[in-house]
Amino acid sequence: MSTAKEHKPVVIVGAGVSGLALGNFLLREGIDCVVLERRDRDHVERRQRAGVIDTRATRAFRKRGLEDRVVGGTPVQAGLGFRIDGQDRWLELPAEEYREGRFCPQQVLVRNLITVFEQDGGDLRFGTEVTVEDIDRPRVRLGDGSIIEGDFIAGCDGSHGATRAAIPENRLTRHSHEYGYAWLVVLAEVPAVHPTLLAIHRRGFAAQFGRGPTASRFYLQCPLDDTAEDWPDERVWSELETRFGEPIATRGPIVEKQPLPLRGEVLSPMSHGGLHLLGDAAHIVPPSSAKGMNLALYDADVFAEALVGYYRHDDPSLLAAYSDNRLRDVWNYQAFATWFTDTVHDAGDATYRGEFRHQVARADFERLFTSGPANRLLGEFIAGLN
Ligand code: APR
Repeated sequence: MSTAKEHKPVVIVGAGVSGLALGNFLLREGIDCVVLERRDRDHVERRQRAGVIDTRATRAFRKRGLEDRVVGGTPVQAGLGFRIDGQDRWLELPAEEYREGRFCPQQVLVRNLITVFEQDGGDLRFGTEVTVEDIDRPRVRLGDGSIIEGDFIAGCDGSHGATRAAIPENRLTRHSHEYGYAWLVVLAEVPAVHPTLLAIHRRGFAAQFGRGPTASRFYLQCPLDDTAEDWPDERVWSELETRFGEPIATRGPIVEKQPLPLRGEVLSPMSHGGLHLLGDAAHIVPPSSAKGMNLALYDADVFAEALVGYYRHDDPSLLAAYSDNRLRDVWNYQAFATWFTDTVHDAGDATYRGEFRHQVARADFERLFTSGPANRLLGEFIAGLN
């Protein structure tokens, strides 16, 4: 029995943010590719996660003429709103150049990327589970037994995907960091009172983000061993009200409630033979940094440029440097994520790391509002321009 076999220059595994962005970038450059996704379209389009596309990532769409079609109509991010012990403080991004990011729920971005890819003739296959047969002579097998060979495999299949699992352990180093606390992640069918608000409070960190006109995400810092059962809906609402220092206007249905230990991870290197990792397949940052989706988009931007060099200019140098270049940048944003995450948590509940760290975090935090250079540095990181 013969096995059906096809060839595609670039085989993209996973239709999350990184895979779909890469597919669209390559299509604009005239580089043929296929995007293979194990879940169905409905599942992928409904998955709720991140919500901010920063300036650098927005520019990656703009430079390819995709900004309007992909993030058009979403609100611009001008700064960050905090409520510190019940008092509102607005942290304005210090320069125009930092204020090009967008509040764009991930599922809106994903839906738009799918629409644009299909409108432009892209090859996207849902319900297609991939296993990797060879990373040095790139070759994947689909659920129906057929084979696709490629010049390259782009591993865009997240932290539990098949591509990272195909790399021999002795060729890979995993660096990981546990923050020591968790977030209870809550999705509720209520309109957001504030598009974004981060609360710093003695009882712990809390945040709320709008997710479209009828849904909001809420986050509550909680101990690592808490379970969803420890948080009946009434406790969620009353704790949010305490930490925000205001009543929650509408208590709608809570449709999702899940503890998430905050962690960071980096896989090194990000390139192995013909396999290159992008997005969550290569690195995890905590949601508190708002950089997970953005790092996935930076990876897609840089990898697409590398493939343009390879295919159009006969220059493999950017491809050879992909892993080193991305890792330098990824560690830079892990540094930001670690500092920002620890500071906003330590500035609130002192029981995790003690009163000394609490006071240090308060001083660090205050500097963001009073020192031009500190404010500017934070602005650069938020915009992705550091
Ligand atoms: N075959 C095909 N598809 C697969 C396989 C497989 N074996 N394994 C996983 N996938 C798919 C998943 O179903 C998912 O749709 O790969 C996709 C990976 O998407 P994401 O997890 O969204 O990862 P990524 O594109 O890197 O996006 C990272 O988005 O949600 C945020 O926290 C995330 O911010 C991070 C960013």
